[in-house]
Amino acid sequence: MPLPERVVPVAPGVTWVGVEDWQRRSFDAILDLPYGTSYNAYLVAGEDKVALVDTACSGFSRQLLAKIATVVDPSKIDYVVMNHAEPDHSGCIADVLEQAPGAKLVATTKGVEMARIFAYASPDRCIAVKDGDSLDLGGKTLKFVYAPWLHWPETMFTFVPEGAVLLSCDFFGAHLAGGQVFAEEGPDYLISEAKRYYALIMMPYAKMAIAGLDKAAALRPNIIAPSHGPIYRDPARIMSAYEAWSRGPLQQKAMLAFVSMYGSTRRLCYAAERGITAEGVDALPLDLEVCNMSHFARDLVDTSAVVIGSPTMLGTLHPVAAYALTLIRELRPRSRLGAFVGSYAWGGGAATQAKLSLEAAKMALVDSVDVKGLPGEEHLEAAIALGRKLAARIKESRAGQSEIPARSGPEIPARSEMLPTLSGPGPAPQQAVTAG
Ligand code: FEO
Repeated sequence: MPLPERVVPVAPGVTWVGVEDWQRRSFDAILDLPYGTSYNAYLVAGEDKVALVDTACSGFSRQLLAKIATVVDPSKIDYVVMNHAEPDHSGCIADVLEQAPGAKLVATTKGVEMARIFAYASPDRCIAVKDGDSLDLGGKTLKFVYAPWLHWPETMFTFVPEGAVLLSCDFFGAHLAGGQVFAEEGPDYLISEAKRYYALIMMPYAKMAIAGLDKAAALRPNIIAPSHGPIYRDPARIMSAYEAWSRGPLQQKAMLAFVSMYGSTRRLCYAAERGITAEGVDALPLDLEVCNMSHFARDLVDTSAVVIGSPTMLGTLHPVAAYALTLIRELRPRSRLGAFVGSYAWGGGAATQAKLSLEAAKMALVDSVDVKGLPGEEHLEAAIALGRKLAARIKESRAGQSEIPARSGPEIPARSEMLPTLSGPGPAPQQAVTAG
C-alpha cells in the first residue's frame, strides 16, 4: 500500500503541497544540485474559493494532483496563481487546469502572455492582475505584488495578509529537496545553498533584488514560503542574508580563480595569495579545473576582488579561465577590482585577453604578472607584490571597509610547501611582465 502523499500546513488555510525532486542533478545546465530540489506549491483555501499558488515542474502533475486531493478535490480549485512562468513552477498548470475546469489562471500581464507562448493556458482562462490587486477567497486574501526580474520579467509575489504569508517563488529560494519543509528543521548548509542560488539566479538582477527585498520587508511577513527549498518561519534569517548579498559591504577578501596545466600559474597564484594575506586580507584560491563553477559563482557574491590565473593556450586564455570570466561578466558581481597572473611558453596572449574581459565586466585590472617559462624567484616576488597591491586597494576601497565578518569558507590547506623557490634558489627567470 503506497504511503499517503505528504502535505504540510504552513498557516491556517495555507498548505504546502509541493513536490521534491531528488533525482534532479542540474539546473539551467549550470547549477549542480547535490541535494536535488523542490517545487513548492501552496493551496490557499478560503471559505468561498480555493487557490493553488504555483505548481511544479512538468512530469510531476500526478504527484501534485494527488497531494492537492488530500486537501481539496482538484476540480474545486477556482484559481491557479502563476507567480512565475518558468517551467519548473508552471509545468503542471495545463494538467491542473484540465482537472479544474472552472479555474482561472492568475498572473501579471506579462505572465499571461508567457502562459500563452508556453501553452499553459489559453487567454480566455487567464486573469491579468496589476500590482496591488487582490482576490478575496472568503476569509483569506491573495494580494499580488509585482516583483519583476526575480527571476524573469513577469514575476510577482503573492501575499496572504491573514497570517502574513509571503509566497515569493524563486526569491529567497534554495535548491534542496530536503524532506524538511521548514528552515529551522533544515540543514546547517541551508544559507550557503541559498547563497549559491542567489549568485546564479538573483545576482545578475541585484537592483531588482534590492527592490524586491524592500517590497518584501514592507509586507512585514511572518512566514516566507519560496517555491524552492525550506519555508522560513523566521523571515529575518533569509532577509538579512539577502540584505548582505545585495547591498551589504563586500567582504575584505580576494578570490584567486586559476587554471594551471603544469603548475606555473598555480605557483604564481599561491604567491599572490601570500601577498594578499600578508596584508591582512582574506584570500580564497579556487582551482577552476576541479572547482564546481557554481561554488565559484557563490563566492563572487561578496568578494572584493578577483585574481584570474591562466596560462596562455592557443594564443589566449585557457578555455576554463575564459569560462570563469564569462560567468563574471554575466553574473555581474559587485567586485570592481581584478588582477591577472599567468605563464606562457613562446607567445603570450592570456594577459591581454584577461584585461579586456575584466574591463568588460567593469573590473579594473590592478596588476598583472605574466611569465615566459617557469616562474623564478623574482616572478614569485612580483606575484607577492601583486597580492600586496591588490590587498591595499581592497582596504582602500569603500567596498573593502567591510563590517561583515570574514567568511570562514571551505577548508583551504596551507600551501607554503607549494612555494619552495621563495626562499631558495629557483629556475632562472626568463621574463616577467607587469602592468599597472
Ligand atoms: Fe525556479 Fe526561475 O524558476
